[in-house]
Amino acid sequence: MFHDNNLRLSSLIISWYLDNKRDLPWRKTKDPYIIWLSEVILQQTRVNQGYNYFVKFVTNYPSIYYLANAPEDEVLKLWQGLGYYSRARNLHAAAKNIVNNYNGVFPIDYNDVLTLNGVGEYTAAAIVSFAYDLPYAVVDGNVYRVLSRVFGIDTPINSTQGKKIFRELADQLLDKSRPGLHNQAIMEFGALQCVPVSPNCTICPATDFCVACAKDKVKDYPVKRGRTKVRNRYFHYFDVRLDDFTFVRKRTDNDIWKNLYEFPMIETDENIDTETLLKRDDFIGLFNQSGMKSISHIVTMKHVLSHQVIHASFYKILITSDKIKNVDKIHSDTLNDYPVSRLIHRYIDEMM
Ligand code: ADE
Repeated sequence: MFHDNNLRLSSLIISWYLDNKRDLPWRKTKDPYIIWLSEVILQQTRVNQGYNYFVKFVTNYPSIYYLANAPEDEVLKLWQGLGYYSRARNLHAAAKNIVNNYNGVFPIDYNDVLTLNGVGEYTAAAIVSFAYDLPYAVVDGNVYRVLSRVFGIDTPINSTQGKKIFRELADQLLDKSRPGLHNQAIMEFGALQCVPVSPNCTICPATDFCVACAKDKVKDYPVKRGRTKVRNRYFHYFDVRLDDFTFVRKRTDNDIWKNLYEFPMIETDENIDTETLLKRDDFIGLFNQSGMKSISHIVTMKHVLSHQVIHASFYKILITSDKIKNVDKIHSDTLNDYPVSRLIHRYIDEMM
C-alpha cells in the first residue's frame, strides 16, 4: 500500500474517532502520570471495569508523590478486585523510582519510559504518544485485529514473525503529524467498530480498504496460533513370534515416526478391548493365514507427544506360519539394529 493510502486510512479512522469516541477522563489530560495510571489499570482490563479504579486512584493519588509515598498495602487494597496484582506493585515501585531518581518528573524519552517497572512497548508508546505526541505506534489487541483485517494478513499475531510484521505496519500507518490522536483513534476503532465478533461492516468507513471485508472473511481475522488440540490415538501393536523370528514394518506414511520400524499394528480412533480387536476385519485380515496359536495382552503404554497422545497396547502373538501381510520377518536378535520410536524402544527394553 502506498504512503498516501496509509494517510488516507489513518485520516478515515481519525474522522470516525472524532465522531464516535467515548468520553473518557484519561483522554482529557496530557499529564503523563495520569495517562500512565490509566494505561496500567487498563492492561488486561476492560474500560467499564477499570473506570472506577482509575477515578479512585486519581482521587487518592492526584500526583506521583502521593502514590510514591503511599504504603504498598494501601495501594494493593485500592487495587483489590482488579486482578494481576503485579501491576499494582510495579506501579508503586515505578512511582518511587520516578520520585527518587527523576525528581518526580515523569521521563520523556521513550526508552526511559520503557525501563519503568511494568511498562512494555505498548504502554510506553501509549504514554509518549498521548502525553508528548511522540511518533510511536501502539500495537495492542485492537490494532492487531484492525490491521490483520484491513490488510488481510494471516500471519499469526502471536508468532515472532507476526509481531514484526504488525509492528512495522503500525509504524508505517502512523500519522506522524498527530501520533497521539492516531493511536487513540485506531484503538477506539478496534474497540467499538472493528469488534472481535460480528462487526457491522456495513457502517464501517474503512470497507473500501478492507481486504477481509472484500473477501467476506472478517471473522477469520486475526489469525492466532492456538494450542492445537491434543489428538488421542490408539495403537495396537503385535509382538509376533515364530520360533526365533519376529516381524517388523517400516512406517512410510506422512505421519509421526516416518521411516522408523515398528511391530505390525492396527490403529483405532477410540479405545477398544481385546475382544473387539479380535473381531475387526483388519485384524482378521492380518492374521488369518498365520496359524495363530495364542494372543495375550502384555502391557499398555501411554506416549505423550507435543500434539498427540499415543495409547499403545502391546500383544504377544504366537503363530505357526509366516503368512502375515506386508511385514519383514527378522531374527529376534537383530531387532535392536532397527531404528524405532522411543515408544517401541521402551517396550523392547522393558518387556522383551
Ligand atoms: N485501553 C487501553 N488504553 C486505552 C485508552 N487510552 N482508551 C480506551 N481504552 C484503552
